[in-house]
Amino acid sequence: MSRDWQQWHEHYDDPDSSLSKRLTVVRGALQGLLAAAEGPVRLLSLCAGDGRDTLPVVRASDASVTGVLVELDPELAARARANAPAGIEVRTADAGTTASYADVAPVDVLLECGIFGNVTDDDIARTVAATPSLLVAGGHVVWTRGNNVPRDPTSYEGDPAELVRGLFLDAGFEEVVFVSDPSGFRVGVSRWPGPDGVPGPGQRVFHFV
Ligand SMILES: C[S@@+](CC[C@H](N)C(=O)[O-])C[C@H]1O[C@@H](n2cnc3c(N)ncnc32)[C@H](O)[C@@H]1O
Repeated sequence: MSRDWQQWHEHYDDPDSSLSKRLTVVRGALQGLLAAAEGPVRLLSLCAGDGRDTLPVVRASDASVTGVLVELDPELAARARANAPAGIEVRTADAGTTASYADVAPVDVLLECGIFGNVTDDDIARTVAATPSLLVAGGHVVWTRGNNVPRDPTSYEGDPAELVRGLFLDAGFEEVVFVSDPSGFRVGVSRWPGPDGVPGPGQRVFHFV
């Protein structure tokens, strides 16, 4: 494990932290996607942490949601599992390889939150390039990227969220939402116009530096 991710989650305890503000934006984005859904929703969250950005939103939604959260840290995964509503599976697994969730895809909503500040630019590009294979036509990815990451692995000059935005646009995604907060976090929602994704055999797309 690249750092103490349980300790990282403690920043959520401060309601004024940038992370808590980001949580509100991510939850709002997911809430909007679920509210707009016209049928059952299949959801996948990579590097899901304790699931606080997804599980309360799913629980409160009128939508019929099934899906999978993938988290490597056993304690965080256990916390998520303990809070997961019916229909949501939590896998203690490596989200850096698509083999861990190829059976779930393509999904309607994919969360890639808390990943892009922890991997190299090449891994960001690989992850974005693989994202269409994980989404149905018309599906959405919710992603985050901080501009205030300690020991940021990027070599991009400027706001690294711009790198991510550009990669999604170049891959054929339509940008639906982009939030740039003065505290440093960025949240994007991008729509995949299609065709339906076909997950390939397991592929390594990232590992945390
Ligand atoms: C920055 S946190 C984000 C957590 C959550 N998505 C959120 O935004 O609250 C990154 C999470 O990724 C997990 N993680 C790190 N490497 C992973 C991997 N290869 N597969 C799955 N989870 C991983 C960490 O344990 C941590 O919970």
